[in-house]
Amino acid sequence: MTTTAPVIAVDGPSGTGKGTLCARLAEGLGWHLLDSGALYRAVALAALAAGVDLDDESALARLAAGLQLDFTAAADAGIGVHLGGEDVTERLRTEDCGAAASRVAACPAVRTALLARQHACRRAPGLIADGRDMGTVVFPDAVLKIFLTASAEERARRRHKQLKEKGMNVSLAQLFQDIAGRDERDRERSVAPLRPAVDATVIDTTQLSVEDVLAVVRRLVRERDLKTGTTHV
Ligand code: C5P
Repeated sequence: MTTTAPVIAVDGPSGTGKGTLCARLAEGLGWHLLDSGALYRAVALAALAAGVDLDDESALARLAAGLQLDFTAAADAGIGVHLGGEDVTERLRTEDCGAAASRVAACPAVRTALLARQHACRRAPGLIADGRDMGTVVFPDAVLKIFLTASAEERARRRHKQLKEKGMNVSLAQLFQDIAGRDERDRERSVAPLRPAVDATVIDTTQLSVEDVLAVVRRLVRERDLKTGTTHV
């Protein structure tokens, strides 16, 4: 069933603050949240676990179509992900999984296989969609399209801080290289390349705090007079 529930599309490369912005928006509006990156990460994880070659497009598409994924509320108030009944929340967030996800995401058949699953997340009162192609491909009729950017140096620094807080010691230079490599692959791929929709509002978050970005987006939300599932934005 197709619905016309409103969608706010938030796209951009990793480390720009998309995840935090989307979680705060979904909470404030009382809307559903789609973390589309988790879908590509889950396909990558399932492929690695099954020993499927990351270049084998038809095997990857079959995996993507049959993915048994469940999203649950996690203990830390984030979103937990179960793949085939197994809690894979932490494994999905690793750098290796992100890099594999970006390879898997370059396969057109995988993207097509994940489309219906993403459309099914569009439910009343509305959806906050977090990804790379939410405003350009998956929800081109989104009522509001945001594209976040930030310098690769700043994004690597943010990721480094996050990992350090989790007790992981990863080199900043290595992270920078990984991020730059992933960006290039996401931008250069032939299907759904990472780029802002023509009608997206682009926000450079390099010098902005989470609260600064939220203030800008909340103003745009108010201008569109969107219906909330709760009483505050
Ligand atoms: O956002 P996240 O870092 O979890 O995404 C992992 C990878 O999945 C990205 O580097 C990108 O290659 C891919 N992706 C995508 N389209 C989306 C979301 C993620 O291609 N809508």
